[in-house]
Amino acid sequence: MRTQLSFAPLSGIESELLAVLAADAQTGKSPDDKPQPVLLTADAAVLAAAKAILASGEFKAGANETILLHAPAGLAAKRLLLVGLGKQAKATPHAVRSAAGTAVRFIKPRGIRELAFALPESDSPALPHATTVRASVEGAFTGDFDPDTYRSDRKDQSVESFTLAAPAAADKAALQAALAEAIILGESQNFTRSLVNEPGNKLTPTILGARAAAMAAEVGLACEVHSTEKLRELKMGAFWSVSQGSAEPPALIVLRYEPQGVTDGPVLGLVGKGITFDSGGISIKPGENMEKMKYDMAGGATMIGAMRAIALLKPKVRVLAVVCAAENMPSGTAQKPGDVQTAMPFSPDKPGKTIEIINTDAEGRLVLADGLTYARQLGATHLIDAATLTGACVVALGHVTAGAFSNDDETWTKFDAALSTTGEKFWRLPLGEEYAEMIKSDIGDIKNTGGRWGGAITAAEFLKVFVEDTPWIHLDIAGLAWVEDSKPFIAKGPSGVAVRSILEWVRSY
Ligand code: BES
Ligand code: MN
Ligand code: ZN
Repeated sequence: MRTQLSFAPLSGIESELLAVLAADAQTGKSPDDKPQPVLLTADAAVLAAAKAILASGEFKAGANETILLHAPAGLAAKRLLLVGLGKQAKATPHAVRSAAGTAVRFIKPRGIRELAFALPESDSPALPHATTVRASVEGAFTGDFDPDTYRSDRKDQSVESFTLAAPAAADKAALQAALAEAIILGESQNFTRSLVNEPGNKLTPTILGARAAAMAAEVGLACEVHSTEKLRELKMGAFWSVSQGSAEPPALIVLRYEPQGVTDGPVLGLVGKGITFDSGGISIKPGENMEKMKYDMAGGATMIGAMRAIALLKPKVRVLAVVCAAENMPSGTAQKPGDVQTAMPFSPDKPGKTIEIINTDAEGRLVLADGLTYARQLGATHLIDAATLTGACVVALGHVTAGAFSNDDETWTKFDAALSTTGEKFWRLPLGEEYAEMIKSDIGDIKNTGGRWGGAITAAEFLKVFVEDTPWIHLDIAGLAWVEDSKPFIAKGPSGVAVRSILEWVRSY
């Protein structure tokens, strides 16, 4: 998708379609109040072209509601699309992000390949121009993604050109900078989505490693991809135990971003769960929906996409990523419930923690245990991990909000601030000694499940054992990594959740 800014008057923009935002300005003071759609532009020709339709009451400017006019009088564009933001008080940059996605997804199935999208005209505190540029472009990239990669009748419906129409009075340099950033974010998030979308046979741990390495070479990141031998050398007994049942070797993917001249300060460690297929192993999952478990590498793909954006946006902080990729399969060589595994030791002189395997389907925490230890050994001073870790988190928060945990309020505060920029929804859940008790093992140090209750929390407590005192955030994205039902602004399929928030968090250092 080519993306550019235009500062020409809206009515003069030649385009297949011009999308203009509308908000519902109804005050809501009386229950009889009717929706009053108002356009977020002062362009007289656009206002005149939309006058009759606004007066008709057919369009209420609800969030992501659309209405189309052909051959609008007085406009150079062939079509005028009105896109609703919802109530005026809720006309935030996040609503603009969705509206841009909606406009893109409106044109895609109609064979229209090009559109202009009008930024809200006034540079108000609620909708500052630079912020709405970012939101619009991010939303457009989100909307442009479709998961039908392997359909033989796939017509590449990708939008060719997206023009952001900005007011002539806007700060051109600031908007240009916001546009450049947003393109990087949008493309990186879609890169993550394309990885998550791949089926298990097309994206094995080895292939995920190759994709990460190819990306790294493109953007200038250092990348190493290791396999079984390195796992043995590092004594990654927890990670290795997950891979042992599969014919596909594991991949330990390490990406490093080291900006020139930055030799002290924090080193941020991004750790991702990269289970390219989770059958459950010997504790095998029921067949229903098992195909979905190809997306169990979403946490790893999130970190790979975030590293791409970091390499291109060049923040002044060192960042490394560790992605632990494996296939969780049942076989004669698979690990069994009751087995005891020894996790990677932080230093060679200290023994690794011993883990009693209660359920081989609780494999994500096993690969992350060694990934977190390794990231610390490589020098990470702050950790963030992302994983499709527990069904319990989906039970608790549904497909609306993702789970988050942290052992450090200061680190969490930074992440929470990032969320208000990106509009992504995470809810911090508690940790605590009583939960830690639930994963004590009779035979070894800890067990890999803590029973049914508080399942997302006991999983986080398991990870916390390997984090020790390092400030850390854990993101359980099981409920959000896959969009279950398509929405006007996003296709059903991989969401790319957390990429943008992790990036904002990194930039806060
Ligand atoms: N990958 C799953 C978690 C998951 C569930 C992700 C639903 C996305 C949607 C994870 O490896 C798993 O199987 N977790 C188990 C843990 C249990 C055995 C303690 C679960 O949540 O059931
Ligand atoms: Mn599992
Ligand atoms: Zn899993």
